[in-house]
Amino acid sequence: MIPTKTNETSKLQTPCLRLEEVTYTWPCGTKAIDQCSFTIPKAGLWMLVGKNGSGKSTLFRIISRLIKEETGQVDCPLKTALVFQNPDHQLLLPTCVSDLMLSVPKNLNKKAQIDLIKESLAQVGMAEMESRPIHTLSGGQKQKLAIAGALASQAKLLLLDEPTALLDPTSQTNVLETVWRLCHRSHSPITALWVTHRLSELDLADGAATMQKGKVGAWKSGIQIKRALQPLAARRV
Ligand SMILES: Nc1ncnc2c1ncn2[C@@H]1O[C@H](COP(=O)(O)OP(=O)(O)OP(=O)(O)O)[C@@H](O)[C@H]1O
Ligand SMILES: [Mg+2]
Repeated sequence: MIPTKTNETSKLQTPCLRLEEVTYTWPCGTKAIDQCSFTIPKAGLWMLVGKNGSGKSTLFRIISRLIKEETGQVDCPLKTALVFQNPDHQLLLPTCVSDLMLSVPKNLNKKAQIDLIKESLAQVGMAEMESRPIHTLSGGQKQKLAIAGALASQAKLLLLDEPTALLDPTSQTNVLETVWRLCHRSHSPITALWVTHRLSELDLADGAATMQKGKVGAWKSGIQIKRALQPLAARRV
């Protein structure tokens, strides 16, 4: 059957995330998100850059429903998971398998849980590391384990808040490429919204936007945003 235009259009119109005029003020009175509207149209690696205090982490808290917008609307049909700058703040148990067990859906039977854990580790290039004690992992491996936790929870929208800020250049590239691969795998690609202050990372973005004073700007290519921000970054050195 030839797909009708309506079917095709409606398929294209189901976004991964849509915010409409969202505002949030912290109890102390700081308006961190101000009439913020944007859409992530499809799976891929989407990046946000913005000065300290522009509202990026607050935005992630709203999208993941840790805090509720004051006004506006958040439509997010996908299960979300947060990945923070410092993996030590989110890895809680002594080994990879015990930690990932916290993330897997509890309604699965034991075998399905273990299979999901193995698959999640393999997806981040850490196959066969189930029983490794977490304290023996490198910083990059810990960050990939945090990402495996997000996969094990079956999240489809990963919110990564400066996930490479504490990593050396090799681990930074490795973590970035790992997430890029997850966003571009042929079977069930994920959506990642990635906050960075490292302009070089923008090269791998499917789309990038700046965040200023609680608002997200229009999506552009990562290279365009990098070119626009590079002179400003150079002036700060
Ligand atoms: N828990 C909180 N309580 C009160 N104010 C907060 C809280 N968290 C953030 N803010 C304020 O909200 C504003 C936005 O902060 P946010 O952490 O979202 O910015 P950011 O873009 O993530 O900054 P950075 O690049 O430094 O991580 C800032 O003025 C900040 O002081
Ligand atoms: Mg932040």
